[in-house]
Amino acid sequence: MARQNLPSAPGPIGVFDSGYGGLTILREIKEALPQYDFIYLGDNARTPYGTRSFEIVYEFTLQAVTKLFEMGCHLVILACNTASAKALRTIQINDLPHLDVTRRVLGVIRPTVEGIGAITHSRHVGVLATNGTILSQSYPLEIRKLFPDITVSSQACPLWVPLVENNEAQGEGTDYFVKKYINELMAKDPQIDTIILGCTHYPLLLSKIKQYLPAGVEVVSQGAWVADSLKDYLRRHPEMDKKCTKGGRCVYRTTESEEKFTESASIFLNESIRGERINLEY
Ligand code: DGL
Repeated sequence: MARQNLPSAPGPIGVFDSGYGGLTILREIKEALPQYDFIYLGDNARTPYGTRSFEIVYEFTLQAVTKLFEMGCHLVILACNTASAKALRTIQINDLPHLDVTRRVLGVIRPTVEGIGAITHSRHVGVLATNGTILSQSYPLEIRKLFPDITVSSQACPLWVPLVENNEAQGEGTDYFVKKYINELMAKDPQIDTIILGCTHYPLLLSKIKQYLPAGVEVVSQGAWVADSLKDYLRRHPEMDKKCTKGGRCVYRTTESEEKFTESASIFLNESIRGERINLEY
């Protein structure tokens, strides 16, 4: 999918997710880097990614990254654990050399793993994520690399993303599934003292998740760590920083209908925004 003539002028930072979940990351990034411009892209028409195969998640993610490059981004953040787990490395290694060697794509798993070492006392950590992220083993593998003394247990929560995407985060029926997956995780290892929310949709369920956590267990969401890590990246890479425009603007693009996106995203972000529809298929 080589693309010629990508715009060379500085542009916004791209933030991509399969749906609305990446807005939880964008919110933190905008707070940490208010002077930068951003394009948020949600592939809402094809969400969820968590139940899809490696090939499809990679194909969809590459389409999104290419589109964001075409829209002027030099730096793209995959604000989606499933895409970070299943597509990031292949895009970095195989696709960037063809698309444009100077552009960069970063994910959310590494910054989260870097943060966890200082939080857990028992050195027993739990991960809640989509089927795809859990099957990829990305969290246990990354944690083992940085903190070999930490024991990791994982639990897939296949129903949480559809509940969030359908505005049911505060719904009564959601309690059942929140409790179920937390209990299943804790049964695997009762010594867990820290749980990673390894899906960017899950912070929208935070109040319910906290309700069903055993006493003494802390839950961490990744937005602030990803934002800090991006800030640090831009400081360490002035050549990339120069290619990121700074006007404090943010625009929103979706593959779903504009009305649906605008209504739901405004609820999730707690501010009124306007989405515009784009097509990712070539
Ligand atoms: N928000 C995403 C993640 O962090 C993906 C959810 C999905 O599309 O299944 O994994």
